Amino acid sequence: ELGPYNHFMQKEIHEQPRAISDTIEALIDDGAFRTELFGVEAADIFSQIDSVLILAAGTSYYAGLTAKYWLESIARIPTSVEIASEYRYRESVPNPKQLIVTISQSGETLDTMEALKHAQKLGHTHSLAICNVQESAIPRASSLVFYTRAGAEIGVASTKAFTTQLIALFVLAVTLAKERGLLSPAQELAYLSDLRQVTGSVQIALNLEPQIREWAKQFGDKEHALFLGRGVHFPIAMEGALKLKEISYIHAEAYPAGELKHGPLALVDSNMPVVVIAPNDVLLEKVKSNMQEVKARGGQLFVFADADSHFNASEGVHVIRTPRHVGVLSPILHVIPVQLLAYHAALLKGTDVDKPRNLAKSVTVE
Ligand code: M6R
Repeated sequence: ELGPYNHFMQKEIHEQPRAISDTIEALIDDGAFRTELFGVEAADIFSQIDSVLILAAGTSYYAGLTAKYWLESIARIPTSVEIASEYRYRESVPNPKQLIVTISQSGETLDTMEALKHAQKLGHTHSLAICNVQESAIPRASSLVFYTRAGAEIGVASTKAFTTQLIALFVLAVTLAKERGLLSPAQELAYLSDLRQVTGSVQIALNLEPQIREWAKQFGDKEHALFLGRGVHFPIAMEGALKLKEISYIHAEAYPAGELKHGPLALVDSNMPVVVIAPNDVLLEKVKSNMQEVKARGGQLFVFADADSHFNASEGVHVIRTPRHVGVLSPILHVIPVQLLAYHAALLKGTDVDKPRNLAKSVTVE
């Protein structure tokens, strides 16, 4: 079942090009974004909503945080993202015009299910489930459903489910933009072309594995690590930190790089590896100056920079070049190297990669 791989997590990381292209194929019909792929009632529901509330847990929550950038910038629709276990117990202000989007690989996560029921009890009638398991509990309770095509995910650490969730959420943002009359034909073609390129870029990112394995050697004896990103790459930094914690048991935290000076900079010394997601986007110059703050304190920087970042290695600054960044889909390819880094760090630690201690694949208890 594992083929040439040693663990399901490694296999699932490498299955991502396939999982992503299968998911894209399910979403893009005849080379256009079609609303009905989210359900027969989708056009009706999408025309009534004025905002989006995303509810999810763990890695699926980070997919939601990434989607917020796309939903607000592409579809211009106000979006909030909330951890399901928090939302279900707090007093919130319901808005019946809000679309509730749940994201869950398993479709059985109790907190997410209960958060959806809570929203429904408050009067929210429009809901969309993004899920990887057919006919599971959360899609059954939702008005609209989109199933990602990641295939069965066995490793407790979610990998291919995450990247396919991102594809579905990106297509949701573009589809909502189209429904709202915000998408020109030229822009639609440009987004389609971005989607067509992403599979190849993910494959190129996977080919970085030997270099990442070398880097991992510098994490094997560490107890802490920091992950930095800005903008749409901040949720990717969070996902990288979660992966490392989950399977290598190294304590890792993620910060938006601009927050460093507001506290976490005090932690930085030569024993603190700092991983930076730094592709060439509008925030790159800001990220570079944040890296300078780390370097000046003797921190070891491990930077994922793309071909356009113009960032060179120097004393204490290690650089791996990710493929030229694919526009707005950049988070999808930049999560690949942090998944691989966590995997190889865990191998060095000798942990049970596919079944890390204290964790379950599907969390159906509170
Ligand atoms: O099945 P779900 O997507 O609802 O699961 C949510 C989280 O439990 C899950 O993403 C968890 O954080 C993973 N172990 C992360 O790798």
